[in-house]
Amino acid sequence: MKVRKAVIPAAGLGTRMLPATKTVPKEMLPLVDKPVLQYIIEEAVDSGIEDILIVTNRAKQAMDDYFDYYPELEHRLINSGKECQARELRRVADMANFFYVRQRETKGLGHAIARARSFIGGEPFAVLLGDDIMMSEKPVLRQLIDAAEKYDSPCVGGQYVSDEAIGAYSSTKLQKLEDRVYDVLDINEKPTPEEKLSNFAVMGRYVLTPDIFDILDATPPGRNGEIQLTDGLNTLCHTRRMVAVDYDATRYDTGNLRGFLAATVDFALRDPQTGPWLAEFIKDRAKNL
Ligand code: UTP
Repeated sequence: MKVRKAVIPAAGLGTRMLPATKTVPKEMLPLVDKPVLQYIIEEAVDSGIEDILIVTNRAKQAMDDYFDYYPELEHRLINSGKECQARELRRVADMANFFYVRQRETKGLGHAIARARSFIGGEPFAVLLGDDIMMSEKPVLRQLIDAAEKYDSPCVGGQYVSDEAIGAYSSTKLQKLEDRVYDVLDINEKPTPEEKLSNFAVMGRYVLTPDIFDILDATPPGRNGEIQLTDGLNTLCHTRRMVAVDYDATRYDTGNLRGFLAATVDFALRDPQTGPWLAEFIKDRAKNL
């Protein structure tokens, strides 16, 4: 199995980050000096992805523009001796082949992914959620692709979370294959403590096979009246083998305020331009708390 294409569903309404996200897509909020979406694209490209489809909606034109050329701005930068910045803008636009499709109604993550059917054709493909940012040595998507290739099967990424947290995600019944890799036997969305299958939550990264499209088209609306990807994955794992990777990374959900602030602080601390200054700043401010 070779995975060359990725889908980034980014058509959600971002209600947890209002009012900022009323006019700025949450994927375009800056994390230190780059929009959230750029980190996700970089992870995809570093994992071997060449073609990227972003699922957008009518309020998300800024994403399309961001990965386009901007000749007037580049000329202005070059003429004022800032060739480096101009080159960086080009590098970002040239990182991958970008494609866009609109999800015309916000009918859920499963519905958003189903928009990718004709772009994907008959190939396996990756899905990266537009607000889940990973900090890791080996790109998280690459960790999934390696397992998907090895077991020749779709693969979901996730991590073990606390008893309190699992109800916010989907839980999975697993059988161990090797260190950090499992067979998925069952999966359910936002379980109550009684419904919980384990504390392994599926979060943010997937390698899927094209048979998911027929499954999603046949999946009735689930929780919140939305077409849930989890419901489709549950059908998939009962139809064919599906594996899970407990990815080795720190994950940030930048779609909520705390996750966004944690990512901002951690990424700024790691950045040589801002890290030493920010560490001193935090120490100084903490003295007065
Ligand atoms: P979220 O659960 O984060 O939903 O969706 P949201 O609407 O973006 O944010 P809140 O909960 O209102 O704050 C998970 C992923 O699925 C995408 C989102 O863009 C996000 O990347 N999504 C969700 C869609 O593309 N379409 C949908 O209809 C729903």
